[in-house]
Order: sequence, then C-alpha cells, then structure tokens
Amino acid sequence: MLTFNYYGHACFQLDDGKFKLLFDPFLTGNPQATIKADDVEADYVFITHAHGDHVGDGGEIVLRTGATAIGIPEVTDFGGTNVKTIDMNLGGTLNLPFGFARMVPAMHSAGVPGGIACGYVIGIGGKVVYFAGDTCLFGDMKLIGERDQIDYAILPIGGHYTMDSVDAAKAVELLGAKNAIPVHYNTWDVISQNPDDFKARVKTAKVHIVKPGESLNLDA
Ligand code: NI
Ligand code: MN
Repeated sequence: MLTFNYYGHACFQLDDGKFKLLFDPFLTGNPQATIKADDVEADYVFITHAHGDHVGDGGEIVLRTGATAIGIPEVTDFGGTNVKTIDMNLGGTLNLPFGFARMVPAMHSAGVPGGIACGYVIGIGGKVVYFAGDTCLFGDMKLIGERDQIDYAILPIGGHYTMDSVDAAKAVELLGAKNAIPVHYNTWDVISQNPDDFKARVKTAKVHIVKPGESLNLDA
C-alpha cells in the first residue's frame, strides 16, 4: 500500500511499506506540525529549496536516520560531510530502489545563493506523484504532465508566497492529474485559504483535503 502521511505545511511522507520518502521536513517551529523532528522516519529526504519552511529540520533528520538527502547541490550541503547526499538538477532522473525521482522546475526563489527552487515527480508503488514545492502557476506544468501520467499532484494553494487556489486549480488542469492534494496553506494568517474553495474550482480531478496528522491511501 502506498500511503501519504501529512505532517503539516509542505511536509509529508510517502510510504510504500518498504521505503519512506520525506519531503520538506519543516517540523520545529511549524505551527501545524504533528510529529517531532526526532520521531519522523525517512530513507530519503527530498528538499525543494532552502527556505526555512522547507529545508527545516532536514540536516538533523538525515544525520539521525542515515537517510539520503536529495536536492540541488547548493541545498544538499546542509548536513555537512557526514551525510549521504545525491545532488541533481532540473531535468535529471534518479533510478532508486523504490522507483524513480525526477527533478522538475518550480518558479520561486531558492533561499540560497546560486540555487534554484524545484519540484519532484516521484514514481513509487505503481503511482506517479508530483510535488510542486513552492511555485507560481507556469505553463510548462503541461509538459510535466505529458511525460508522466500524474496520479497525485501535491500543490501549494496558500497564495502570497506561492500560487493560490485559483491558479492551483488551473495547475491541476495543465498537469492532467487524476487527483490533487492541497498543501502550504493556513500555517500562518498570511497564507490562509479555504481548501474547499480549491476543491470547488477543480473540475478535472478528485481533490483530497488531508489535515495535518492524517494519512491518505494512494492506492484507493
Ligand atoms: Ni519558499
Ligand atoms: Mn514555503
């Protein structure tokens, strides 16, 4: 079974029963966090960019768990030399024991000099999951959806720093995704959004509103 475990803001884990993939592990100081950085499990830690609400506790988690950190080189040096890292860049695909990971563009600042923000397309458990990271709407999302049939698109809807519900609904359409999960909203007042508004706007996919601390079976 492939499970999406949502820990709040943009932090979640994909678990296929064998491998645990953790994304943007901002837990300490995250008002939505439902798990402590000391307790979260990971075999791989994916970072989209170096803003504090994404790289978060990544350094401590990879040191404690021995997980492999994946991101652009400017970001993955966060844990120092004791950490297993795989550097990659936009357009690259890694074949990994659970499936594949492709790094795709995001339109956002990187939070680190010389860096660039990214998203990921992940193949795991027979599903394709796209995590947009922090981004605005951009037309090339269509190309991301043309390469892989996206089963689940995990998209920011909070506005202010990223696209809002209106643009995220258009993103679902461009991607041709079958399902969508909104993230990166209501963590703070500045990104307050009603996820039901997003759900109402999406005509082309099924929207799953997952609350922090809840899980979703992606095989269902
Ligand atoms: Ni950001
Ligand atoms: Mn962010």
